[in-house]
Amino acid sequence: MKLAVLGGSFNPVHLGHLYLADAAISGFGFDRVLLVPAFRSPFKQGAAAPSPQDRLAMLAASIPGDPRLLIDDCEIRREGVSYTVDTLADIYRRYLPEGRLALILGDDLARDFPRWKKSDQILSMADIIIARRTLADTAEYPYPCRQMQNEAVGISSAQVRELIAQGKHWRYLVPAGARTIIEERGLYGLPDSGPAEDGVPAGDFVSGPGLIIRMEAEARRTLTLSRFLHSRQVAVMTADLCRIFGLDSRAGYLAGIVHDIGKHLGDEELVRLAKTDRLPISAVEKQKPSLLHGRAGAALLKNQYGIRDRDILDAVRFHTTGSGSMGPLAKALYIADKIESSREGVEPGLRDFRGYEGTGEQGLDRLFGKIFTETVAWLRLKKFDLYEGTLRQLERIERGVPR
Ligand SMILES: [Fe+2]
Ligand SMILES: [Fe+2]
Repeated sequence: MKLAVLGGSFNPVHLGHLYLADAAISGFGFDRVLLVPAFRSPFKQGAAAPSPQDRLAMLAASIPGDPRLLIDDCEIRREGVSYTVDTLADIYRRYLPEGRLALILGDDLARDFPRWKKSDQILSMADIIIARRTLADTAEYPYPCRQMQNEAVGISSAQVRELIAQGKHWRYLVPAGARTIIEERGLYGLPDSGPAEDGVPAGDFVSGPGLIIRMEAEARRTLTLSRFLHSRQVAVMTADLCRIFGLDSRAGYLAGIVHDIGKHLGDEELVRLAKTDRLPISAVEKQKPSLLHGRAGAALLKNQYGIRDRDILDAVRFHTTGSGSMGPLAKALYIADKIESSREGVEPGLRDFRGYEGTGEQGLDRLFGKIFTETVAWLRLKKFDLYEGTLRQLERIERGVPR
């Protein structure tokens, strides 16, 4: 996977950012651009300055259904001043890019680059791509770089903030999802309009009627931000696995984005919903109802959202515990949930899918067997009681009968 990194404050994200990411993908053949919001914004902020969580939420709302764009919140989790050199090292470790990473710099920042912390080390780690942000012609820079032949989009975050503060036109300079969040939360000094009415997911009417887009908006509305970002990483990785193993990658993205949709429910509701699948509630599930969020999530998807695809419902149902009867999509989702790129503590080699391309169901079973047995070993180490379905699946793997 060829990766490029686009950092910044995203305060707020605007159309120029997304245009650059898109232009980098089509102009240089990247598979994916990682959008990495900085923890510490270099701009002066007033009393209504949005928190890092607000900036993340705006970004998360702005790229529904586009698996080419990822959000990585490592700088926000790290806190303190966000140095690119640390971020690049972290990204190499977690994403295992194909070849060298690329770092996209706007030409407004490019002149200062030699003064960045450990800029030499950055140059040794990443190819610098300079994108046009200003209307100036191409320029010479005292370090190796390539220049993107993009149109300069004359939008800046500072300009958007200023327009909002002055009560002027700003709304169509930012993606629709970010606009909704600015309005709902009253960011940048805008009067707070409160949350969208119940039953009308924020951003739904502006994002179009596609099922993936609607369900992504719903996941974003109902889950915590960190749970949503996890879901998006799972969606992208499940889609990748589906492509590698010859499955429908759109179904993979959809299963990933909704897989934790039952996660916000209380214990009573989890049990009530899980019971609708007519399977018994096991002793382990009774003891720990949070284990039911897969079963309850599948029930929600079927009853509340009208999703009927059996493979998607089963994948969501079994993603937490596994079961004795998992189909290929369920296996792909299970894998992605355990090792998606923002999860810490995953052995890097597990995310290396080279060599699996075109191996079909056999390859998927091999990878699934590896991840499943590692997960069970970890659960045993932590002395967790194992769900009956988990043990059945483990037995199948150990007997060499993966399905
Ligand atoms: Fe889950
Ligand atoms: Fe999950």
